[in-house]
Amino acid sequence: MVQNQAIGIFDSGIGGTSIWNEITAALPFEDTIFLADSKYAPYGKRSKEEILALSIKNTEKLLEFNCKIIVVACNTATTNAIKVLRSTYDIPFIGIEPAIKPAAIHTQTKKVGVLATKGTLSSELFAKTSDLYAQNIEVIEVIGTGLVELIEEGKIHSTEMYALLDSYITPMIAQNIDYLVLGCTHYPYLIPILKKMLSSDVKIIDSGEAVARQTKSILTTNELLNPNTTSGTHLLYTNGDIYPLKDILKTHTVDYSVKALDF
Ligand code: DGL
Repeated sequence: MVQNQAIGIFDSGIGGTSIWNEITAALPFEDTIFLADSKYAPYGKRSKEEILALSIKNTEKLLEFNCKIIVVACNTATTNAIKVLRSTYDIPFIGIEPAIKPAAIHTQTKKVGVLATKGTLSSELFAKTSDLYAQNIEVIEVIGTGLVELIEEGKIHSTEMYALLDSYITPMIAQNIDYLVLGCTHYPYLIPILKKMLSSDVKIIDSGEAVARQTKSILTTNELLNPNTTSGTHLLYTNGDIYPLKDILKTHTVDYSVKALDF
């Protein structure tokens, strides 16, 4: 029965495991299949057409696995492709966008930083969301050039990473932001470093928990929740090097298998 089918999740690479982690915590009895499209990462530099074609490729692969719902665990793919995915396929899609709304509501300094990819920041959907929620505040948008590549190479704690982050964060601090919105699912893995760079007055927000809540809510309203009461099984596939994916999952506590797959 459809309720027993897995939740499909894809990202341009290994960063979407930050969302997968929230989903497995919020929905412990669900099976998941995760695709890390690392072979084609980063998406952030690609054209809208390329991002759409890659998103369709990943969706078709997840449909081959009979997934009952698809979580696009990538801001760049969501902001450039989710509209077409939703109108093409007859299953629910959950997307992720930079969490500007809560930052705009709570900022005291009226200055909010957004760190995201070029593909996300230049998308129509981001412009719309920003116009809707950030009318009375200043949004300081910074493209995180090079960050996804370093994470994909397993170089989170490298001197290159520290130098890049410092160059992106310093101008935001100078403009007195009190919220930093992480608009890329790779970036939650940078939070420990960012916390060292930012004063405790600056709050860091990402959309991971909200996406897991939304996934649960859509499964519930569509009567798609798995009725099992045993832990779900989790399969993570990569079409790139398997070791960075294994490495980034080290801190995750659920049982899972990681496999190489050409897609
Ligand atoms: N994790 C993707 C995102 O949320 C990274 C995009 C990329 O590959 O550039 O945007």
